[in-house]
Amino acid sequence: MPTVRLKDILLYVGVATAISWGGGDANFPDPLVQSPNSGWHSEGFGSRKPNIVFIITDDQDIEMSSLDYMPFVKEHLLDKGGYPKFVSQGFNENWLPVWLQQAGYNTYYTGKLFNFHTVRNYNSPHVKGFTGSDFLLDPFTYNYLSPAFQRDHNPPVIYPGNHTMDITADKAYALLDDALASGNPFFIGVAPVAPHSNVEVDTANPDRPNPRFSAPIPLNRHSHLFPTARVPRTPHFNPEKPSGVSWIAQRPRLNKKLVDHNDHHYRQRLRALQGVDELVDGLFKRLRASGQLDNTYVFYTSDNGFHIGQHRLNPGKECGFEEDIRVPLIVRGPGVAVRDVSKAITTHIDLAPTIFKIAGIPPREDFDGLAIPLRKAAAGSSSSKRHEHVNVEYWGFALEESKLSSEVFLNNTYKSLRIIGPNYNLYYSVWCNNEHQLYDLTTDPYQLRNLYPGYRDYSKTHKILEVPLVTVIGRLDSLLLVLKSCKGSVCVKPWAKLHPDGDVDSLLDSLKPRFDAFYDRQQSVQFDRCEMGYILDAEGPQEALSYTRGIHWSHWV
Ligand SMILES: *[C@@H]1O[C@H](CO)[C@@H](O)[C@H](O)[C@H]1NC(C)=O
Ligand SMILES: *[C@@H]1O[C@H](CO)[C@@H](O)[C@H](O)[C@H]1NC(C)=O
Repeated sequence: MPTVRLKDILLYVGVATAISWGGGDANFPDPLVQSPNSGWHSEGFGSRKPNIVFIITDDQDIEMSSLDYMPFVKEHLLDKGGYPKFVSQGFNENWLPVWLQQAGYNTYYTGKLFNFHTVRNYNSPHVKGFTGSDFLLDPFTYNYLSPAFQRDHNPPVIYPGNHTMDITADKAYALLDDALASGNPFFIGVAPVAPHSNVEVDTANPDRPNPRFSAPIPLNRHSHLFPTARVPRTPHFNPEKPSGVSWIAQRPRLNKKLVDHNDHHYRQRLRALQGVDELVDGLFKRLRASGQLDNTYVFYTSDNGFHIGQHRLNPGKECGFEEDIRVPLIVRGPGVAVRDVSKAITTHIDLAPTIFKIAGIPPREDFDGLAIPLRKAAAGSSSSKRHEHVNVEYWGFALEESKLSSEVFLNNTYKSLRIIGPNYNLYYSVWCNNEHQLYDLTTDPYQLRNLYPGYRDYSKTHKILEVPLVTVIGRLDSLLLVLKSCKGSVCVKPWAKLHPDGDVDSLLDSLKPRFDAFYDRQQSVQFDRCEMGYILDAEGPQEALSYTRGIHWSHWV
């Protein structure tokens, strides 16, 4: 194994609410082969299965180089979510670390695991599936200078005056040392809070925590860095004309005071990330010293992106723009091509399937995602065509995370689709007030021109793939109708739901004129009202029609 730097192997990915992307061909081979005799196995690592180190920062965008955040207010406006929801759905018995333990892995985790995983509910029940754990807990999760951690089944410990990154690093190293000493293959998840905004709450009064947001707080030794860094002044940075729909279209231009403060927030994020960078180095030093580095896959990613100033928005992350939904995904490990930037379209729902593949575990039927190809084409290996879409959904409200402005915007509920093919690169969304967005990122990479009919930039003559906009929109809407309620393999191959004959596998295929009448018959994605969560009866039509040959769709009622 040649010496490879982490940054040499870049794979862009989206988040659960996110995209990855490319714009080129999505045709990448699988990293690990399926053996005809013994089923799934991992290749070329000797007898011991490879280890997996999974580092996930919090809200780190890729569009602005590195960004974060997350609201505590949610805990008190949404009654359900995060850890309690996870437990009530039965997932504590049936999720990734449990499956990995069943496959012979030792499993470890430190840092933030869930929203609403708190000093009050951490033991009712305890999180299952970890050999060793040390969780950050609410309401101290985002308090950079007074974090609370909770080890295994011990009570929580608050560390007033200690920096979250110092404590997280110590805990990550201790768990990694345990993992390395165990002699078993291991999975370790490390989830530092940086570069999330700093959030302080009144902990004495749990019912009225009064959360206060401010820029992230770097370690002292990093607080002087990058004094001139500022948010990139791209065309969509605080633009002259408003953009987006719904509450976003109403945002006034940011004044100088806000712009200056947002630049400060941006610098503090970059500084706070230095603590993460050092943590990554510390993990690698231990892996290398143990002799296990060459038998370990290391993933580096973030839970979602972040925006600062784009589209006139103050710091935040609940929108569907590229800043919010694109995140870094870097993978280093045995057989991963060096200096390869993958154009595969992926999201975080693909991570569990990817980890399964690495661990030589057969994929579960109920996986909504698909293993991410980690290797370039090797001679003789068959290549499989990946899908070209990412489903993006949000329910509830958007929140500004600035000390100077922390407004809440209701009705921030929408369904979106990001789709990237050989000759198209589109974002389509339907909001709960039934406003729509369509951006053609080939001609409008900053998402400033909404091409949906009825909006300012719609033009009857604008074509995508040589086809009128309304035709393309019909196809996108039907695809979104399938994706917004898909489960399992339908999420991976949504076109097969619309075209069971298997002759349509992409937006391009679907645009054939012989399908026009069929798509005219589909119901549209729409909402009956805006809800704060996944309330099915507010979400309009659920089932898409399937194309059947021989039906005269233009006469069909
Ligand atoms: C936490 O802070 C105390 C007091 O400053 C210090 O002695 C201790 O070393 C710190 N712990 C860590 C892990 O940084
Ligand atoms: C939110 O949407 C509802 C319709 O579902 C509407 O009645 C209400 O005025 C909207 N609120 C805001 C703040 O836009």
